Amino acid sequence: MKTYIVGNWKMNFTVGESSIYLHKLLKKITPKKGLVVAIAPSTIALQPLSLQIDRKKIRLAAQNCCGKDYGAYTGETAVSQLRGLIDFCIIGHSERRFVFNESDKMIREKVAACVRNGITPILCIGETESERAFGETADVLKDQISTGLADVSREDLDKVIIAYEPVWAISSVKGAKVAVPDDISSSIDIIRKHLKDTYGKSTDETPVLYGGSVNPSNCGAYLTIPGVNGLLIGGSSLIADQFNDIIEIAKRVTA
Ligand code: 13P
Repeated sequence: MKTYIVGNWKMNFTVGESSIYLHKLLKKITPKKGLVVAIAPSTIALQPLSLQIDRKKIRLAAQNCCGKDYGAYTGETAVSQLRGLIDFCIIGHSERRFVFNESDKMIREKVAACVRNGITPILCIGETESERAFGETADVLKDQISTGLADVSREDLDKVIIAYEPVWAISSVKGAKVAVPDDISSSIDIIRKHLKDTYGKSTDETPVLYGGSVNPSNCGAYLTIPGVNGLLIGGSSLIADQFNDIIEIAKRVTA
C-alpha cells in the first residue's frame, strides 16, 4: 500500500504565490517509491501549476468539483474539465458540508463523477465534537461512507481514498483539540470494518488518510497508526519547509 501526503491549501495563496511555493517545494523534494505527495491549491491555480509541476515529485489535487460533467451549472467546475490537470479531488470536506451545506446527494454525485472521469476522489468523513460527545461517532462515519460511496461499485473501490478528519481536530475550528493516536485508531477500525462488512475483503486496498492539526511533531505518530495510509494536511501544508519536513518524516517512518 502506498503512503499519501496531501496538502489542502484551502482558500489561500494567489496564483503567483502558489507558483512560488511550488518552485520552492520542487527544489527540496526528492521522490521515494511508494510515497505519493500531492497539493490541492485553489481551482484557478490548477492550470498554471499543472504546467510547472514535476509529476514524479508532486501531484495536483482539486479541493472540490461539480458532480455533473457539463451543462447549466453557473459557477461550478466539472471534474471532466479538470482532467489532465489533477490526479485527485477532495470531496465532502467538512467545510463544504457545513459552511456550504453540501448534501449527501451532492457528495455522492461528486465521488461518482471523479471515478467516472479517472480522477481519484479523496472522500472526507468525520464526526463533530457534539456527535462524538453523544457517542454517535460510529454511526456518523458509517453513514458518511455509505452515502458517499453509494454510486461506487465494489470493483471501483480501489479508485477511492477515504480521509478521516474529525471536525473537532481541524486547526481552524474554534476550540480545536489535537487528536491522540488512540482516538484516531478506534475510528480507523470502525471505517475499515464498515468497508469490509459492506464490500468484502478487497477493501483492504482502499487507502485511509488522517487529517486534523497534523504538523511535523505529530505526523510520525499518526503515520504509524495501523490502517492509516497517509495524511491530509491543512495549516502545516501552507509553509513549504514544514510540508517538506512532514514528507521527510513520512519517508523515514514508512521505510
Ligand atoms: P489542519 O491541518 O489545519 O487542521 O486542516 C485539516 C484539514 O482540514 C485538511 O483538509
